[in-house]
Amino acid sequence: MGSEIKVVPMRVLVTGGSGLVGKAIEHVVQEEGGKLEGEEWIFLSSKDADLVDVGQTRAVFEKYRPTHVIHLAAKVGGLYLHMKENLHFLRDNIKINDNVLQTAHEMGVTKIVSCLSSCIFPDKTTYPIDETMIHNGPPHDSNFGYSHAKRMIDVQNRAYYQQYGHRYTAVIPTNVFGPYDNFSIENGHVLSALINKTYTAKKEGSPVNVCGSGAPRRQFIYSLDVGRLIVWVLREYEEIDPIILSVGEEEELSIKEAEDLIAKALDFTGKIQFDTTMSDGQMKKTASNAKLRRYRPNFTFTPLNEAIKMTCDWFVANSDIARTGRDHHQA
Ligand SMILES: NC(=O)c1ccc[n+]([C@@H]2O[C@H](COP(=O)([O-])OP(=O)(O)OC[C@H]3O[C@@H](n4cnc5c(N)ncnc54)[C@H](OP(=O)(O)O)[C@@H]3O)[C@@H](O)[C@H]2O)c1
Repeated sequence: MGSEIKVVPMRVLVTGGSGLVGKAIEHVVQEEGGKLEGEEWIFLSSKDADLVDVGQTRAVFEKYRPTHVIHLAAKVGGLYLHMKENLHFLRDNIKINDNVLQTAHEMGVTKIVSCLSSCIFPDKTTYPIDETMIHNGPPHDSNFGYSHAKRMIDVQNRAYYQQYGHRYTAVIPTNVFGPYDNFSIENGHVLSALINKTYTAKKEGSPVNVCGSGAPRRQFIYSLDVGRLIVWVLREYEEIDPIILSVGEEEELSIKEAEDLIAKALDFTGKIQFDTTMSDGQMKKTASNAKLRRYRPNFTFTPLNEAIKMTCDWFVANSDIARTGRDHHQA
């Protein structure tokens, strides 16, 4: 009997806890029973510590002494800001990631789940994209600084495993949307920008102008599904290699189909126009969720029409606090 191992409940520090994905994890933990007895979950924003600064990073780790870390914080910006400031995105994100990973290592954190992004994959690639292809060629030129910094998380995770046996890993979500997203029309994620545009057009009785032809296809994933899957990764996924968090390839949706769902959710009956003089961006970035499906064959993704409806409802009810400024990002 006497040799029972005492399991210490996790104390989880979530960096970037005030953002889209962080708020979703908070909901899963606080409202859906994601938190187990005795566990403590701490959600940080940049106000708690500027993680670019190693002193502030150490101080916040000293304060909370986490056993586990979910690392979401990143310097992110819109397309044009990335193109103008690749050096800042590269350096700030390298610093944030190294400060978080190395401080966690020094303080004996047993597991870290960091967040990569499907936009860091090679620009020239075959489809579907999978987890083995991250380093197979240069990323898109527009955001090469951000992408290389993110790719280095994967390299660093391998090095911590090789040298210290740490289980530090990463997830790669596709296009995330949900409550607390950045709904800026100029600079937000495509789906949330369209929600704001459509809501505004309804109020003003004007048509909605969608940038581009509406033909590009994307895999949209609801933030709460991402939150549930990240909590699962933290508890059960043992690999160092990253895992793509996405709906299936067959669930890719065109921008036009997404706009139709938004119009329905917001009860918008006006005209929807497509401005084909505007760039379409990449026509597709299809990612494979085969690895996720091997681990979680029965995970149920929230149906897109429901997820879009819930996000629209949240935006309408919270339009006073929703982020609609120009200073945020596009993943
Ligand atoms: N959204 C997507 O579609 C998507 C897709 C793939 C991957 N990802 C990745 O998922 C992660 C979370 O994304 P998100 O969409 O939730 O981002 P978000 O809503 O923009 O939130 C970013 C978070 O990072 C924090 N942060 C930024 N700079 C910081 C700094 N210097 N020090 C400390 N904290 C800082 C922000 O704090 P404040 O609130 O105080 O500013 C905020 O909590 C990111 O790593 C992103 O690359 C996102």
